[in-house]
Amino acid sequence: MMTAFPMNRSIVCVLLLASGALLAQHEYTATDIENGGRQYVNNCVYCHGPEGDQIAGVSLFQGRFKRAVSDDDIVQIIRNGVPGTGMPAQTGMNEANARTIVAYLRSAAAVPASTLTGGNAARGKSLFEGKGACATCHRVQGSGSRMGPDLSDIGMQRRAVELEKSLLDPGAGVLPQHRFVQVTPKSGPAVTGRLLNQDTFTLQLIDSQERLRTFVIADLRDYSVLKDSRMPSYKDKLSRQELADMVSYLVSLKGPNKP
Ligand code: HEC
Ligand code: HEC
Repeated sequence: MMTAFPMNRSIVCVLLLASGALLAQHEYTATDIENGGRQYVNNCVYCHGPEGDQIAGVSLFQGRFKRAVSDDDIVQIIRNGVPGTGMPAQTGMNEANARTIVAYLRSAAAVPASTLTGGNAARGKSLFEGKGACATCHRVQGSGSRMGPDLSDIGMQRRAVELEKSLLDPGAGVLPQHRFVQVTPKSGPAVTGRLLNQDTFTLQLIDSQERLRTFVIADLRDYSVLKDSRMPSYKDKLSRQELADMVSYLVSLKGPNKP
């Protein structure tokens, strides 16, 4: 993991402010919310969907439940399941982890849904490969570039509103796992690339020619995490309809990943 790098928390902090009322029950930190989002994708998205509304009568991000009322109820339901229904117990998930999921659900409830509705996924696909030139940086189902993150299952990972944000304001919420770093080896010129992995001694990145590069940390003169997004904003490059088409296409990408 790449815990040594500072994370950009600006987006989650804004969420915290916006959802102050909901957070009255418990104080959650930005890290809780981020962990919770990851756990949601790993354990819940399969049944509840990226928008949390795939089970009839339950809308996790809108706070619509059949029986849960408080945060504690949700924690209890996550850990014990709902006997006699399709909601399984997350055996082995401790209370602290279940709470981070609640933190994520509560913070997501504070973000309005995407306004880019009425898109057409097939048109979005053509834009992705054509005018949008997205494939020059992104890979879907084995074709395209590795410079940016693989988007083959992005529709399972992110809500439409988050995808919209990526297109309009890419710098706002660069995920820690998508950070670009610049390293300067003692023996040569600086290299910029997307950080793939880091341990105590080495780090790996994908450089701008899509090459996997490994650096020994002790041999670096300097390294820094780049704050800005590498991705251009499409706010003024695509029309509203085109943006809606693109969001529809991205929402439809549900994997599996191909190398
Ligand atoms: C195998 C499918 C499945 C998985 C995985 C799953 N759920 Fe559920 N969940 C359901 C079903 C089905 C229901 C509706 C149960 C019912 O009929 O009351 C439900 C209900 C719920 C409820 C609503 C309870 C209420 O009062 O209405 C919450 C909250 C919930 N799930 C959270 C989660 C979270 C968080 C995760 C991940 C840790 C998760 N679920 C994983 C299927 C699943
Ligand atoms: C110049 C390269 C480049 C181009 C062109 C580009 N992107 Fe990106 N994109 C990136 C990088 C790099 C990231 C990782 C985060 C960051 O740096 O903002 C990213 C992030 C994203 C994300 C967020 C991924 C996540 O896990 O949340 C989405 C969605 C996305 N891009 C979609 C698109 C679409 C759709 C297009 C075309 C309209 C496009 N990108 C064009 C480089 C690019």
